[in-house]
Amino acid sequence: MKNLLLLLFIVLVQYSFGQPLYKDKKAPVESRINDLVKRMTLEEKILQLNQYTLGINRNVNNIGEELKSLPAGIGSLIYFNADPVKRNDVQRKAMEESRLGIPILFGFDVIHGFRTIYPISLAQACSWNPALVTQNCSVAAKEAVLSGVDWTFSPMIDVARDPRWGRVAEGYGEDPYTNAVFGVATVKGYQGKKLSDPYSVAACLKHYIGYGMSEGGRDYRSADISAQSLWETYIPPYEACVKAGAATLMSAFNDISGVPATANRYTLTEILKKRWAHDGFVVSDWNAIEQLIAQGVAKDKKEAGLKAFLAGVEMDMKDNIYFENLKQLVAEKKIPMSLVDESVARILRVKFRLGLFDEPYATVLDEKDRYLQPESKALAARLTEESIVLLKNTNKTLPFAASLQKLAVIGPMAKDKENLLGSWAQNGKATDVESIYEGLEKEFKNKLQLSYAKGGDFDGLDESGFQEAIAVAGQSDVILVCLGEKNSWSGESASRSTIALPGIQEKLVVALKKTGKPIVLVLSNGRPLELVRLESIADAIIELWQPGVAGGTPLAGVLSGRVNPSGKLSITFPLTTGQIPTYYNMRQSSRPFGKMGDYQDISTEPLYWFGHGLSYTTFTYSSAKLSSARIKKNQQLTVEVTVTNTGAVKGKEAVLWYISDPAASISRPMKELKFFEKKEINAGEKMVYRFEIDPMRDLSFTDATGKRILETGDFFIHINDQKLKFELTD
Ligand code: GLC
Repeated sequence: MKNLLLLLFIVLVQYSFGQPLYKDKKAPVESRINDLVKRMTLEEKILQLNQYTLGINRNVNNIGEELKSLPAGIGSLIYFNADPVKRNDVQRKAMEESRLGIPILFGFDVIHGFRTIYPISLAQACSWNPALVTQNCSVAAKEAVLSGVDWTFSPMIDVARDPRWGRVAEGYGEDPYTNAVFGVATVKGYQGKKLSDPYSVAACLKHYIGYGMSEGGRDYRSADISAQSLWETYIPPYEACVKAGAATLMSAFNDISGVPATANRYTLTEILKKRWAHDGFVVSDWNAIEQLIAQGVAKDKKEAGLKAFLAGVEMDMKDNIYFENLKQLVAEKKIPMSLVDESVARILRVKFRLGLFDEPYATVLDEKDRYLQPESKALAARLTEESIVLLKNTNKTLPFAASLQKLAVIGPMAKDKENLLGSWAQNGKATDVESIYEGLEKEFKNKLQLSYAKGGDFDGLDESGFQEAIAVAGQSDVILVCLGEKNSWSGESASRSTIALPGIQEKLVVALKKTGKPIVLVLSNGRPLELVRLESIADAIIELWQPGVAGGTPLAGVLSGRVNPSGKLSITFPLTTGQIPTYYNMRQSSRPFGKMGDYQDISTEPLYWFGHGLSYTTFTYSSAKLSSARIKKNQQLTVEVTVTNTGAVKGKEAVLWYISDPAASISRPMKELKFFEKKEINAGEKMVYRFEIDPMRDLSFTDATGKRILETGDFFIHINDQKLKFELTD
């Protein structure tokens, strides 16, 4: 009653002084939304449901340029220019020339940094340091806001287990829990404590849902996902991020067993809006509504628009279908005005929460004050350091011995800058990137004699550079071979039929091996690679991933020993392309994995499992201890292990805790990651790691309707090479 009276008073005051309620900063957001929607015409409402583009679109996968004349009342623009002044000019038109002065929401793909590009998401997960990811995302958000962007189309949290798919680079790997934890960390970095904070941007969870299951790793293709797998594997990251407050989601290009994600009422409304009560909005992916025609579920644009809107897609990215058809569909009573109002309210809610009605303009700073601040680059470098994975290190090849004098630096990645940026780095500049070679020069100045030869290109057949490379290598003590992928070989529409490196790169290593010198292989790539032939040739292998601007020095630090590598794989490296899909949490099967039924011609084991990563020190795990061998469903079980650094140098150890359920009413995965923690341990010291198991959270499984089921019986905890049994009782 008191609120009602307060509201009545506010409305009375407003009307008596002429300012409409929705413009009153002190009024509750919901009151402002309701007041504004009531004032809007149908045309104004429909404009809010559309997104066009502003600036030069360099994304070759997204065909279409900006409209010649942008309607002042447009709901959103994808903003391609990193220029707050131009953004403010267009925003001023919306605020001052449109009848109601509704601010435009400017969105952009800020995926792993805006201008201070940091490691790709797949690499970030290998750091097992979500807090550091949050810090880097906060930097990205600030640079985005200072460039006129209020909303980023990130994080991508599509669980992916087929590394032929180029977009595996953009997510956090093969595991639902890992994608959930890093997705939440990213949302926190972008959205800050609240959306209206000066440097917060709205996050956008994508691509909802199941995009990582595109058949054969081919982008945009059908995804056959059972209801069981949907709930067990693909939904958990989205549920976690929605509960963390993610403002928006983006509907995916794929179908879910025949029902396109962009016309899927079950996922878009039943689950997202009804079960999870998400009160933000869903934007389609680029032209995804029109693509419903190609997917065979709409005969024309009008039907496509109808299906997407009724399913629960509030905003139409780029294909103009809502703009052209919604008014007619309302007139034909195929779309109720109540649904239009609710959809508009969801979009306005995000704009109000961002503070755009009250602060519609971006602060304009000089470029030098907007980007690449020293502390931003330092954070990027730390994330690179922690995401580097030491895959192999025989005969203590690494770190380099103090006695080392001559290092040959060979390969197409050695002095490359552009490709270290990775995919989705539109505002990144190659000139901002520190190359591997530049990092080596700084780290080993006056300590090592570096010699360089490119040897060959990333692909092609030209071996004419081999002789020079062999000569340079022959005069050195150790050969550092820097190989990998071009940044265009991963990301969108970048699927590859094989995850092996092009033959020219492998041939270069084989040629260098003839010198008899130790070979250290450094890889910069956006997906797991087929290394089966290189693994036996290289004495050490470092996975650098695509580090962004800070690549050279962190890598050089690992080579010199200044940095003790602590990364562990967030995705399995299959032995060969033919082994795909192979991932750690495959379901238990009738003939135990690795025993029978796999390939006759190759091993069943992948080359490197999820969680693999070496250190320069040794960590010894005590026998893990359970607080009890038996617990009830309403009790917690504490498991702890003491890890001792038994080596000579300090190091960071991420302990990954898994559970398995050997006998349930459905076959459960071989094991499931449920918790992880990373700590630094000085040489000779020890740390206790503890995992508090909550049965419903950690031991239950979901059925095909999303219902969580907790069954009694035996369970196992897996930690390092230990497997401990306990019983759950009623
Ligand atoms: C693209 C991508 C999506 C991106 C959007 C806007 O097609 O699928 O990830 O956010 O279009 O660039």
